[in-house]
Parts: sequence; C-alpha cells; structure tokens
Amino acid sequence: MTEIFTPRLLLRRWREEDLTAMAEINADPVVMEWIGDGSVLDLEQTAEAIERWEEEWDEEGFGLFAVELLGSGELAGFTGLSVPEYLPEVLPAVEIGWRFGRPFWGQGYAAEAAHASLEFALQDRGLDRVVSICRAGHDASENVMRKLGMSLEREAVDPRYGFPLLVHAIDLTEYRG
Ligand SMILES: CC(C)(COP(=O)(O)OP(=O)(O)OC[C@H]1O[C@@H](n2cnc3c(N)ncnc32)[C@H](O)[C@@H]1OP(=O)(O)O)[C@@H](O)C(=O)NCCC(=O)NCCS
Repeated sequence: MTEIFTPRLLLRRWREEDLTAMAEINADPVVMEWIGDGSVLDLEQTAEAIERWEEEWDEEGFGLFAVELLGSGELAGFTGLSVPEYLPEVLPAVEIGWRFGRPFWGQGYAAEAAHASLEFALQDRGLDRVVSICRAGHDASENVMRKLGMSLEREAVDPRYGFPLLVHAIDLTEYRG
C-alpha cells in the first residue's frame, strides 16, 4: 500500500468511501473549468474514473493519489501521476496533475501534495523526467508547476478540443528534492 505523509496531508490509494466526496468535486463547474472541455462529471463517471486510476496504479506502479487532510480525514482531491495519452506528441511521458475541491484552494495543499508526488516520481519510482500540462491561461495550475521548479518546455494544441496547451517539465538533474 503506497502512502505518503506530508505535514498536513496523507496521499494514499483510493477507497470506496472516497466516491461521494470526489464526485462532489467533479460536479463543480468551477473546478472543472480548465479540464477537458469543461464538462462536469457525475457520480457514475467519477466511479469509473476512480476505477481507471486504481488500474493505472496496478499496471504502472504509479497513479493518482487520493489526498486526505490529516486531522479531519476529509478528501481534498487528488494529486499524482498519469500517462498523458491525450497528447501523443509528448509521449513517452509521465504527467503530474492535481484537482482539489474549492474549499481546499488557496491554502497551499495542492503544492504540498504535488511536491510529495514529484519526489515519489523521481526518487521512489526512478523516473528521470516529469511533465505537467495545462490550458494556456490557467494561472493557478501554472503557479503550482513553477513552485515545483518546472519550466515551460513547449506549447501545443489539445487534439481533442483545439485549446492551446502549455507543457511544463522537470528533469531529475534539475530537481532539488
Ligand atoms: C490548480 C489547483 C490545484 C491550485 O490550487 P491552489 O490552492 O491555488 O494551489 P496552492 O496549493 O499552490 O496554493 C495557492 C496559495 O495558497 C496560499 N497559502 C495559504 N496557506 C498556505 C500555506 N500554509 N502554505 C503554502 N501556501 C499557502 C498561498 O498564497 C498560495 O499562493 P502562492 O503560491 O501564490 O503564494 C486548484 O485551483 C484546482 O484544483 N483547480 C481545479 C482543478 C484543475 O484545474 N486542475 C488542473 C488542471 S490542469
């Protein structure tokens, strides 16, 4: 069982009881504004997504962590690793991503969880490079990328929706863990 503790958070594999809280996050149009075409996800789609994320853990040895607040035990969202199949031009690559419920924004939780995930990728899993991709103009995400020490590597266009994308990256050699 892969678990990482940070000062305020527990990053862990998904549990059945996470479904309702994650579905609430995925149903918020403000949370989903910059993701895909901005569509929200319902309970069933969230259940399918969690199943896929767990499969990725089993197949790849990495995946998206459920992020729990230490103390209250609330599910704040996710951070972690995935293969960005939706953008073939960057493959092979492993992407770090994040999605938190609105009550958990603006408190440094995303950056705290992302640092732990990046360390997991580069030091525990032995990856030598991690990318992070967001839509151009998504300042909150770019801010997290910069705090991780990532730099802009290329601009791209989302083949699914035509939105301009920014691809940030960090190499193991640049990482100061
Ligand atoms: C992207 C997202 C995860 C960023 O969350 P966030 O809360 O803004 O990010 P951070 O964890 O970096 O916290 C931001 C601010 O919290 C503040 N903060 C408050 N308490 C803090 C603390 N104890 N430690 C650190 N920062 C703290 C800081 O001011 C920080 O801003 P700064 O870096 O400019 O100083 C969030 O907006 C989100 O989930 N969005 C919807 C999903 C999404 O778009 N995902 C990405 C798709 S590409």
